[in-house]
Amino acid sequence: MSILVLGGAGYIGSHTVYELIDQNHDVVIVDNLQTGFESLIHPKAKFYKGDLRDSVFLNGVFEKENIEGVIHFAANSLVGVSMKEPLDYYHNNVYGMMVLLETMKNHNVKYIVFSSTAATYGEPKEVPILEDFDTIPTNPYGETKLAMEKMMKWCEEAYDMHYIALRYFNACGAHPNGLIGELHNPETHLIPLVLQVPLKQRDAISVFGTDYPTKDGTCIRDYIHVCDLADAHIKAIHHLMDGHASNIINLGNGEGYSVLEIIKAAEEVTQQPIKTIYCDRRAGDPAKLVACNKKAQEILGWNPKYTNIHEIIQTAWNFYNNK
Ligand code: UFG
Repeated sequence: MSILVLGGAGYIGSHTVYELIDQNHDVVIVDNLQTGFESLIHPKAKFYKGDLRDSVFLNGVFEKENIEGVIHFAANSLVGVSMKEPLDYYHNNVYGMMVLLETMKNHNVKYIVFSSTAATYGEPKEVPILEDFDTIPTNPYGETKLAMEKMMKWCEEAYDMHYIALRYFNACGAHPNGLIGELHNPETHLIPLVLQVPLKQRDAISVFGTDYPTKDGTCIRDYIHVCDLADAHIKAIHHLMDGHASNIINLGNGEGYSVLEIIKAAEEVTQQPIKTIYCDRRAGDPAKLVACNKKAQEILGWNPKYTNIHEIIQTAWNFYNNK
């Protein structure tokens, strides 16, 4: 029996595949390589290049492979782009999920772990954020992920499918093997952009907003290592296969760092000064997002191993220096 990883050539998907294979699972990857990279695909995984919205293609994969459970990462995930191209996000994310659930139903596959996001909450009334807080997304990206969660809920009612939606905060870092890490084109995420300065790939890092109601005026985020995310996905699929109930679970370290604190930590890790430019706010950025991660500990027995921000940034730094 195999685990199907949709989006297994992407950042978090590839780290999950490496961990699954380390734990002796057979892994099948589906990825259209729209945002994924062939270089991130584990050599022992079976890879099908194609788009999950193509139901003939996807049904073909389910026919050929003996799939026991699905881990779904194959979605668009940039807040800013989603504001400009909302229909692309509805098509790829929501329609993609529809085709996937339909295919799972046709092939009697009952378990799905889904890559959801803190963006489902919108601007929280307080932090840390608990899973039962209101979900009022402030952008189409968060809105589509929330819609995808609800599709799984109704499929559970109707078809007895079981799901875990993992709402992650800010994924970061790289595999300690130095072979895989965060690659996006174009890159928009804070830590890789900060590290591009000492890598001499950019002159300076722009800080988006210095007048937020936070300790130093810059946004606060909860940075969670990608290997800890991978570990949670595998615990979640095992949890479902062991017969436990569907759930929605936050994944974060439970600690917030400001943009300026991240830059300072990166200077300490790289031992180089990082030139900083102070800019206006970026549209759609909430001031402070920090997870309550108690539910993940209680339900999945998950505890993040990478709790030190310097160690997290060090793994990313090692990867970029290895490339
Ligand atoms: N930032 C800068 N300069 C940059 C890039 C980012 O100051 O050049 C700031 C942002 O304004 C934000 C923080 O750094 O305050 C983190 O920004 P990222 O773009 O790295 O991440 P986001 O918090 O915007 O979004 C990430 C994921 C989303 C997910 C969200 C959930 O990209 O998919 O976390 O918290 F929905």
